[in-house]
Amino acid sequence: MTQTVTDWSLVFEGFDPEREGLREALCTLGNGYVATRGATPESRADGVHYPGTYLAGCYDRLNTEIAGRTVENEDLVNVPNWLPLSFRIGDGPWFGGEGFEILEQRRELDLRRALLTRSVRVRDDAGRTTLVTDRRFVSMDDHHLCGIEMTVVPEGWTGVLTVRSGLDGGVTNAGVARYRDLRGDHLVVQETDQVGEDTVLLETETRTSHVRIAQAARTRVLRDGEPVPVERRLVRDGGWIGQEISARVGPGQPATIVKVVTIFSSRDRALYEPGVDASAWALRAEGFEALLRRHVVAWAYVWQRCDIRITGPERAQGILRLHIFHLLQTVSPNTIGLDVGVPARGLHGEAYRGHVFWDELFIFPFLNQRLSVITQSLLMYRFRRMPEARWAARQAGFDGAMFPWQSGSTGREESQTLHLNPKSGRWLPDHSHLQRHIGIAVAYNVWQYYQVTGDREFLRFRGAPMLIEIARFFSSLATYDRAAGRHRIRGVMGPDEYHDAYPGSEGPGLDDNAYTNVMAVWLFVRALEVIELLPESQRQELWETMALSRDEIERWEELSRKLKIPFHDDGIISQFEGYGDLEEFDWDGYRQRYGDIQRLDRILESEGDTPNRYKLSKQADVLMLFFLLSVEELRELFARLGYELTPDMIRRNITYYLARTSHGSTLSRLVHSWVLARSDRELSWELFSETLESDVADVQGGTTAEGIHLGAMAGTVDLVQRGYSGMEVRGDVLWLNPTLPRELTSLEFHMHYRSHRIFVSITTEKLVVSTPPSEEGSVSIGLLDTVHELEPGATVEVNLGT
Ligand code: BGC
Repeated sequence: MTQTVTDWSLVFEGFDPEREGLREALCTLGNGYVATRGATPESRADGVHYPGTYLAGCYDRLNTEIAGRTVENEDLVNVPNWLPLSFRIGDGPWFGGEGFEILEQRRELDLRRALLTRSVRVRDDAGRTTLVTDRRFVSMDDHHLCGIEMTVVPEGWTGVLTVRSGLDGGVTNAGVARYRDLRGDHLVVQETDQVGEDTVLLETETRTSHVRIAQAARTRVLRDGEPVPVERRLVRDGGWIGQEISARVGPGQPATIVKVVTIFSSRDRALYEPGVDASAWALRAEGFEALLRRHVVAWAYVWQRCDIRITGPERAQGILRLHIFHLLQTVSPNTIGLDVGVPARGLHGEAYRGHVFWDELFIFPFLNQRLSVITQSLLMYRFRRMPEARWAARQAGFDGAMFPWQSGSTGREESQTLHLNPKSGRWLPDHSHLQRHIGIAVAYNVWQYYQVTGDREFLRFRGAPMLIEIARFFSSLATYDRAAGRHRIRGVMGPDEYHDAYPGSEGPGLDDNAYTNVMAVWLFVRALEVIELLPESQRQELWETMALSRDEIERWEELSRKLKIPFHDDGIISQFEGYGDLEEFDWDGYRQRYGDIQRLDRILESEGDTPNRYKLSKQADVLMLFFLLSVEELRELFARLGYELTPDMIRRNITYYLARTSHGSTLSRLVHSWVLARSDRELSWELFSETLESDVADVQGGTTAEGIHLGAMAGTVDLVQRGYSGMEVRGDVLWLNPTLPRELTSLEFHMHYRSHRIFVSITTEKLVVSTPPSEEGSVSIGLLDTVHELEPGATVEVNLGT
């Protein structure tokens, strides 16, 4: 199978069973409410194909006995498969099974129109050749609607074509091999019914969360746009319901089968009952062309806001668009108001069980500048889970709100307590929930959203309470060390998941993770600032409703000046206290022995060793600081703590950690590329290009089939948008200070900033910024080092020289 990326498409020619799962994930279609993998409509889960469909926020929990323990796991549920559509000629075999030889096949994902098309020529055992073309969409316009249209063209034969079109409720969560020991039978079929001459209904319910899911499918057979005389037969088989529809076809007499499907769940609003609504809307829906037209218009507007144009390698442009595309299929205007977060692996597969991590940190910045209303909606997912986070803090003996490392339905901790090392076959204790820094990511996202939008109402009622509660949690986490004369945060994990304990120690956890501690200081400073920033009356309100006290304000002040940051080797920020004492790792030896050493955790454990002994990281940890904060901000924070941070130290820290990182997470290269964007453009571009390939080329060797890596996808787009343009919001000014990599000669995009639409164009010679005429006032834009008051309809430009 060959794969080609063009400006606006992804094309696959041929077929490769080994790469079909990858293709399915990359060809997923979704609309921010529901998404369906790009499996062929005639396929079923059989080890090669995996037709998964996922509804945003639809989770279910089940218990399994594993390694002598009862493990409860919460999954994003694989809901019934709405795709099934196949045919047979006469009483021959069903297309999709044995008995058909594929002569040629081409599949194309059209990014502009969000349309997946296929053209396949097949020959059956009786020697008849048939051309099959199909197209499908998951409507961005009406999020309950999906459609497939399949045209069957007989080449030189005449006969009866029988189409089988249905809905399959017999699916389970079985998309990730490592999880197969865990129960995945989340669906219970409730009802299968015919609700109209050409329409069937399937209703299921999740086993323990009792979410009711209904799908209705209407299937028609047309020729030249007109209905063809057909015979229909209802077929029920367990959780499968559909129709077999027969029509005569022949040369010059093709058949076009149109299947329109509606999907509803009991989590929806404006709903009577999912089955009733799904049936009503399937019967009312327009034809394929009309639905497709509205879907394409909806996408055109989304693209108008979100596209980024570069002049450079065509592949880079295409992949950037693919990344924007998958982000918008996971969260879109249809997501606004839904009670959902962003699953780290999109709605594209079952890896990480659809849980929500800190990856939002990499995803929200792009949304902030395009569709900040979506960020607001996603932040509400966290806000609504504050009571659970407060409860979790209390249970663990802390104050404030302790957000979970992995979040699902209620916001309780969903991280697994055991995980399987597929390399050794052993189930091992998992301590990743100790990544308390997740709370800082939530706070950082609140602050970024506020910076870009200036949305004070949100800040007062939602943002400030979150910042305060998270600050309280980190404040209660810190303890005073008399000997060190500093406060410390002990027993946590940083972003690098390969270190979860000190070598030989009894229990898990590490002390003074530098990333956590510096960001905690950032958090205390922000929490203090937010309280001051609100108008007097609101400040009073906040003070009383949040029961703030002078003592705690003083403690945040104190902590923001007295938290410990560990160092070793003369200016290297220690990833955690004691990191400098760990052994150096034999990188060359392991590379030679294993080739791919991204997953050193699995390799070392299978050897009876542990990464805890070595100076090695899965991903950027200390360097996350340089990714999230500007050099000025960081220097201020260090100075506040009484530490010095020189430009030379920053350079040395980047080199030091880059040499000791295996990039076992797709987020890692992205962060390294970002922090090197100005100091080492060549290496930065290399790491950026590798990040671009993460999913299209499946660099982790099999993980993309289980779901895309949305953080890395969104991060690449954000690196181009904010990193290369040098964009930053500081002191109510939108600053731009571009540095393009040598491989790009221009970069152009539209963005939104505090109710202004702004157009940015960067070439090697010029930076041009303009706003369209509007009723708005002027906007403060800082270009290089000068602030301009840009009136609506005006343009400013500066020379960038060579
Ligand atoms: C990374 C985490 C990330 C998670 C979900 C892990 O492999 O180490 O940082 O949040 O994947 O994407």
